[in-house]
Amino acid sequence: MAQDTLTIVDNRTNRPYSLSIEGGAVRATDFRQIKTSPDDFGVMTYDPAFMNTASCRSSITFIDGERGILEYRGYPIEVLAEHCTFLEVAYLLLFGELPKEAELKNWVHAITHHTMLHENTKKFMEGFRHDAHPMAMLVSTVAALATVYPEARDIHDPSNRLLQIERLIGKMPSIAAMSYRHSLGFPYVYPDNDLSYSANFMNMLWKMVEPKYAANPVLARALDILFILHADHEQNCSTNAMRSVGSSHADPYLATAAAAAALSGPLHGGANEEVLKMLDEIGSRENVPSYVKKVREGHGKLMGFGHRVYKNYDPRAKIIKWTAEQVFEVTGRNPKLDIAMELERIALDDDYFVQRKLYPNVDFYSGIIYQAMGFKPEMFTVLFAIPRTVGWLAQWQEMLSDVDQKIARPRQIYIGQRARQFVPMEKRALHAVTSH
Ligand code: CMC
Repeated sequence: MAQDTLTIVDNRTNRPYSLSIEGGAVRATDFRQIKTSPDDFGVMTYDPAFMNTASCRSSITFIDGERGILEYRGYPIEVLAEHCTFLEVAYLLLFGELPKEAELKNWVHAITHHTMLHENTKKFMEGFRHDAHPMAMLVSTVAALATVYPEARDIHDPSNRLLQIERLIGKMPSIAAMSYRHSLGFPYVYPDNDLSYSANFMNMLWKMVEPKYAANPVLARALDILFILHADHEQNCSTNAMRSVGSSHADPYLATAAAAAALSGPLHGGANEEVLKMLDEIGSRENVPSYVKKVREGHGKLMGFGHRVYKNYDPRAKIIKWTAEQVFEVTGRNPKLDIAMELERIALDDDYFVQRKLYPNVDFYSGIIYQAMGFKPEMFTVLFAIPRTVGWLAQWQEMLSDVDQKIARPRQIYIGQRARQFVPMEKRALHAVTSH
């Protein structure tokens, strides 16, 4: 018998089946041969929330959640954060290799020359309410780019795909900055092509009347590191949305908008905003033990704690803590850091969190840095979306060129009623639940 197989006996029929194991997985479709009769549909696998289902084979990002390891294309995240710029890492994620000098130069040039937004897009953004949430503005505006670049629908042409990828990576900071300035009632600032990706983003955020914006190099580097840490994270909720929507061959702007919408939720990228609200609610270090007790007793969650994959310290959280120190040298220490560190200390010593292997995740400390830099909490998830766009696009490209992939369309186990008799209106019973 072949070694890399799984033998299953169907106790309903006493028939044995042999399924191949490849990469530690069996193919769910192989279960379909397990039937009680020829017209039986066959056995399905049931896995709500994909707790144990690989939806693809990927060579982009590796995570070992037990050991707290994260690698992009085989390079440890710590090494990339120390030595690379964000656009260098973006190139690595999209094309599989670190760029040579000339390649990087061309790549940076291509992205830099796609940072401008069409004036129509600017007008579109002006139409949002003054207090619109920047993340909702970002999602809608990215979707609206599909109307500006209708040729993006030709997703089968690799050079056309690359053009849209460059546009999306280039324009994301511009849209993010515009949504920020809109919420403050400030005029929009055009990109400055002399500046690096992060420094130009800072220019579009914070330039006032000075003729040329000079970004603080420590803050620009910190932002670049944060962008590197957030660039990809394999099959998370938003990436799954990107792949799923992209699998219907929707254009990349609409698929990216869908991914960004998934990111906005408080259990995903929206957690960084929630962490700040939580730290405000706690108020001071002395209140931390009672807050942790409340969570332990089932009242709420510690936002920025826990992860589906990491059952150890999130390696990104460690780098973020280090980056925070650099930022605070410039901005002064954010007093929330003391509450956060006390929260981490007490939680990591508490049985509830230890038994469930709940550690701080990437969102726990990032908001504290962003706040020290001058961002309002509503902007935090937008700051996550800028770099994650690279990961979404790398995963989208990989999905489109994977011969195993088809339109994403899960099965269900139907548990509702069947073939009911129609009841005329006058004979219908009152339901306990009404819509008003
Ligand atoms: N605080 C308190 N209890 C928690 C927390 C938390 N933050 N996270 C998980 N638990 C408990 C959960 O109640 C469950 O307990 P029990 O076994 O008694 O029912 C156990 O730990 C397992 O949790 P789970 O909900 O089954 O885990 P999951 O993999 O479905 O959810 C998660 C992962 C990230 C959604 C969850 O940990 C969470 O809601 N964390 C807070 C939100 C957050 O920080 N999200 C950011 C995630 S990382 C970056 C990103 O994706 O953007």
